[in-house]
Amino acid sequence: APLTQDQLKALVGRAALAYVVPGEILGVGTGSTVNCFIDALAELKDKIPGAVSSSEASTARLKALGIPVFDANAVGELAVYVDGADEIDGQGHMVKGGGAALTREKIVAAQSRRFVCIADASKKVPVLGRFPIPVEVVPMSAQQLVRRFAAMGGQATLRQAKGGSGALVTDNGQHILDVAGLAIADPLGFETQVSQWPGVVTVGVFAHQRAQVCLLGTPEGVQTLTF
Ligand code: A5P
Repeated sequence: APLTQDQLKALVGRAALAYVVPGEILGVGTGSTVNCFIDALAELKDKIPGAVSSSEASTARLKALGIPVFDANAVGELAVYVDGADEIDGQGHMVKGGGAALTREKIVAAQSRRFVCIADASKKVPVLGRFPIPVEVVPMSAQQLVRRFAAMGGQATLRQAKGGSGALVTDNGQHILDVAGLAIADPLGFETQVSQWPGVVTVGVFAHQRAQVCLLGTPEGVQTLTF
């Protein structure tokens, strides 16, 4: 039988163990694929001092498995950052933030020499943007930014919390816009432009912090892409 999406996530989560540098603190991302990686990482916990985490959710999962979590400010440059993506293109540019953790993810990625992306094959796209682009914003700027995205052809909506309690609030106390209808031909240019709009905290296009390696889970096994 063909592997399910969950089996592909487990496969690439385990494959990423090969990129963990013994003796070095590791950067850890967020999401269901990273959860598979964290579970596998428990086997190597005696080989690393610990991790810098990109979300409250990953921090809780790491600690539950006995892996120490360090404050980003308490450590220097990290050798490797392992994280998933919502989309990845042929140059290692990604869309991220489906799990609302994009700001801390971009911070830990920027603190790391190498970004190893783990994803199932459904995430690989020719052009970014079919997945609505998450943008973390200061709440009072949200509607101004909706209008700016509309002027470039995008439809931005305010992400809602699960359970109908209103707008989702991020780990950083901010809101998320999801911008549909854009095909991102120039990820670096888009990230640069939108990052400068007042109220934007983080754009969920990772071009400056692109992946150097992608472990892609395909029906034929793990495909390693390097960029
Ligand atoms: C979290 O904010 C995202 O950037 C995740 O990395 C992304 O949503 C991938 O999550 P899954 O592994 O659950 O698809």
